Amino acid sequence: MFTPQGPSLRELTVQALSSVEHGYDLLATKFDATPFRTSDRLLAAVADTLEGLGPFDSGLDVCCGTGAGLGVLRSVCAGRIAGVDFSTGMLARARGAHPTADLVRADALALPFASAFDLAVSFGAFGHFLPDDQRALFAQVHGALRPGGTFAFPLPAPPPVGSRLYWTLWGFDAAMRVRNAVWRPPFVMYYRTFRLADVRARLEHAGFDVTLVPVEPLGRREDGSPRCRLVVARKGSG
Ligand SMILES: C[S@@+](CC[C@H](N)C(=O)[O-])C[C@H]1O[C@@H](n2cnc3c(N)ncnc32)[C@H](O)[C@@H]1O
Repeated sequence: MFTPQGPSLRELTVQALSSVEHGYDLLATKFDATPFRTSDRLLAAVADTLEGLGPFDSGLDVCCGTGAGLGVLRSVCAGRIAGVDFSTGMLARARGAHPTADLVRADALALPFASAFDLAVSFGAFGHFLPDDQRALFAQVHGALRPGGTFAFPLPAPPPVGSRLYWTLWGFDAAMRVRNAVWRPPFVMYYRTFRLADVRARLEHAGFDVTLVPVEPLGRREDGSPRCRLVVARKGSG
C-alpha cells in the first residue's frame, strides 16, 4: 500500500470518503499494488483445489475488480469466462489484463445473467455486502448458474481471538462504523460480517447445497484445522 507503486495515504483517504463504486474507480490504476488485490498465492491454491472439483465449462468472476479471479477461471474452465463489477475503472484494468474475457459492468445485486454459467467464483469482495445484501447476492449468483452449477470461494480461518490480526480487523471495522455514522455516501467494507456459520445459512437459504473443502496448499494451523477452506455451494440439477 505504501510503496512507490501503490496509492498514497491521501489517495486512500479520498477513496475511503467516496462511495464504494467511485472509490474503486479512483483506486483502479494502483489497485494491483495494494494488499486489497487477492494474492497470487491464494489464487493458485484455489485453482489447485478447484481442479479436483471440475470439469467446468463457462465461468463467472463476481466483483472481478482488475481480474484477479479471471486467471483462476481461465485455468479451470474450458469455455467462456466472464467478470462482472460495477467500477468502470476496475473493469478497464481487467480488460487490459484479460482481453478474451467478457467484462460486464453491473451491480452484483442485479446480475444480468440467467442460468448462464457452470462455475462462479468471488474473491475479496464479500466485506462490501451487509448481511441482508449477502443473501441477495447469493440469490443472484444462484440465478446466474446453470442447474448443477457451482459457486466457490475461499474462506480463511478466523484469526484467534486476541491475536494481532484479530484486533487489526476489529479496529478496521470499528473505524468504518464510525466513518459510516458521520459521513455520506457510506463506504461499506467490513471484515467481520462473513463468518462461516452465517455464510452457510445464507447460501442454503438461496438454494445451495454447501460443502467445505480444505485448501491444502495453504497448510494447516497448529490444531490441525485448515488455514483456508473453499466454500463449495452447488445448485441442484433439477
Ligand atoms: C477488494 S476488490 C476485489 C477485486 C478482486 N476480486 C480481487 O480479489 O482482487 C472489491 C471489488 O468489488 C467490487 N464491488 C463491490 N460491490 C459491488 C457491487 N455491489 N456490484 C459489483 N461490484 C462490486 C468493487 O468495485 C471492487 O472491484
